[in-house]
Amino acid sequence: MNERESIISLREQLHRHNYNYYVLNAPTISDKEFDEMMHRLQDLEEKYPDMSDPNSPTQRVGSDLNDEFRTVPHRRPMLSLANTYNLEEVREFYQRVSDGLHGQPFQVCAELKYDGLSISLHYRDGKLVQALTRGDGVQGDDVTANVRTIRSIPLVLDSSREDIPEEFEIRGEVLMPWQSFERLNDERGQAGEDLFANPRNAASGTLKSKDPKVVSQRGLDAYLYYLLGEDIPSTGHYENMESARSWGFQVSKDMRLCNTLEELWEYISYWDVHRKELPVATDGIVIKVNSLAQQKALGMTAKSPRWAIAYKFQAEQACTVLREVTFQVGRTGVVTPVANMDSVLLSGTMVHRATLHNADVLEALDLHIGDHVLVEKGGEIIPKIVGKETLPQPLHKGGECIQPTNEEQMSVAEVGQALWEQEQHSPVHHTPSPCGRVGEGSSPVRFIQRCPVCGTPLVRGEEEASHYCPNDLHCAPQIIGRLEHFVSRKAMNISQVGPELIQQYYRNGMLHDVSDFYRITHDKKVADSVARSTEVPFERVLFALGIRFVGEIAAKTLARKFKDIDSLMSATMEQLLETDGIGNVIAESIINYFASEENRALIERLRQAGLQFTLSEEQLSTHSTTLQGQSIVISGVFAHHSRDEYKRIIEQHGGKNVGSISGKTSFILAGENMGPSKLEKAEKLGVRIVSEDEFLAMIGQE
Ligand code: IVH
Repeated sequence: MNERESIISLREQLHRHNYNYYVLNAPTISDKEFDEMMHRLQDLEEKYPDMSDPNSPTQRVGSDLNDEFRTVPHRRPMLSLANTYNLEEVREFYQRVSDGLHGQPFQVCAELKYDGLSISLHYRDGKLVQALTRGDGVQGDDVTANVRTIRSIPLVLDSSREDIPEEFEIRGEVLMPWQSFERLNDERGQAGEDLFANPRNAASGTLKSKDPKVVSQRGLDAYLYYLLGEDIPSTGHYENMESARSWGFQVSKDMRLCNTLEELWEYISYWDVHRKELPVATDGIVIKVNSLAQQKALGMTAKSPRWAIAYKFQAEQACTVLREVTFQVGRTGVVTPVANMDSVLLSGTMVHRATLHNADVLEALDLHIGDHVLVEKGGEIIPKIVGKETLPQPLHKGGECIQPTNEEQMSVAEVGQALWEQEQHSPVHHTPSPCGRVGEGSSPVRFIQRCPVCGTPLVRGEEEASHYCPNDLHCAPQIIGRLEHFVSRKAMNISQVGPELIQQYYRNGMLHDVSDFYRITHDKKVADSVARSTEVPFERVLFALGIRFVGEIAAKTLARKFKDIDSLMSATMEQLLETDGIGNVIAESIINYFASEENRALIERLRQAGLQFTLSEEQLSTHSTTLQGQSIVISGVFAHHSRDEYKRIIEQHGGKNVGSISGKTSFILAGENMGPSKLEKAEKLGVRIVSEDEFLAMIGQE
């Protein structure tokens, strides 16, 4: 097989392994073997740029950077479904369908209602050609580049299947599984970024990201639930979805055909409980008339089909009284309003605090002290106030209100979970100060103008949801937050120093900033634990500094790219932006951090204390796997490194240096004056010749 054929074959194999892994959950090769094949394909594609293909498995990592999404009209409008929270209305729907079909027998397909964002995928000749968001239902955003990075969406379908239409559309839901969602929020919390309130917001924020590389790392998933087109295989929805599954799509195995209303009730009551065990968020059940002919006969209203309905599960809610609103200042200075309420039982736990997120949410809720408020714990982890109870005597059922949520209430409380962030990631709890307390009275609770701790006027960045206190160097909760972050396990791991000791040292005037840890001598245990932290590698030191938006992952990439603190400190905006996964927000934050004299002086003190501000020899020696599996011949004289250095560099990037040229040679690294016999042999065997500069570019050392 020649190399061009290898490209085709590797693509086919990788598509299949990808499907086995992401859709079937049953890989047949090891991750390592998969990675090796992927690298080989990447190398070959680089070598044969004329064979590039946007549907190649290599494109899953996200390649092109698009500035803006193109708006594209949908070929068929993307309607939404009529919603109900009420089983009685489901019964009425069933009856309406039966009447509409003049008593004909019919089946309904019951399926889970996935809580993500809907997507329309277009395939032609077995290949993904376009992916659109729902938009306003008439036109959507072209998010193809981002969707290509979602591993469970097939880019190319199994060509041996004969029932795949030449052209079709398939719709479904893009989701962020709970696990990815928690990991993402963890990282964001550590970086001091706003958290996503729920997986749906996270999925939607991610899919609309301008950088497919970011999308590729966020672990999105997709379930498909609607096949459309001229030549689709069956006359029933369920059967079509079974076909789609066999073509390589991820279709839920939890769809059921029901012949009677009783079967439907069984399905609903089963999933009302068991949906909590699923890896992704669901918010109800969708019920569809199965026969496409019957669907057609029933038709549509202006907004939604008459042949389907969505039954939404009720989020668990409770009713209680608002007593006080306090304002908390987090490690990064973000100020979060928090509702303090009478304790109430909600989904099995006593709840007395709820986040009010930010000024906009607070204002929209129009709260007054003493109001009866509805607290909800839906898909989210911490409770939130979704609205006010205006009835004098709210309906209670075992301590819980039984009013359903409505769309408006949901949207009020959709923003970040700042309270959770503070509780989980930065255990600084500012005790409510007089300015943070809102007195009883009839005027609505308002957001504060000044920091409740240090009195500095709060600022709010353009397009930012949160207000924050800009006095980062002298505002107590921010200082304490940074100290706590510094010693935490994933940062410097100074295990002998916990939040209480930090509070105590801070109050005694022993700790002003993180460099003071290295001057502690009076307690041997603490001093030893601090001393051990000088071994912590550079990337974790960088994370430990607590630069706004620089989480664990960003710190790692920055450390690897810039290799030492001095290069990072002098990096320009452009250089920072060239780094994988570093966008404007992070880059700007880094520039601002190092622009401060105080921060530069702090780095100097830490350097004196012996912290690692350079990548270690070991880290420097395993750079990448760029040259994995490649046999490279070195020939000629070089300008930038000696031949021995090039041998070492090749090994550091996973390649192998070989002495003589053969058919197996991947390429020749050629300097000046390459011997004529070698040149001739290379030409004869068609081995690529790579110049010194090209090679350095290849390994990212331009
Ligand atoms: S069918 C015409 N099936 O719920 C029928 N939708 O308003 C189109 N959804 O926008 C939708 N799970 O985003 C269908 N199994 C499922 C679904 C589902 C989630 C979403 C979809 C749609 C909304 C309904």
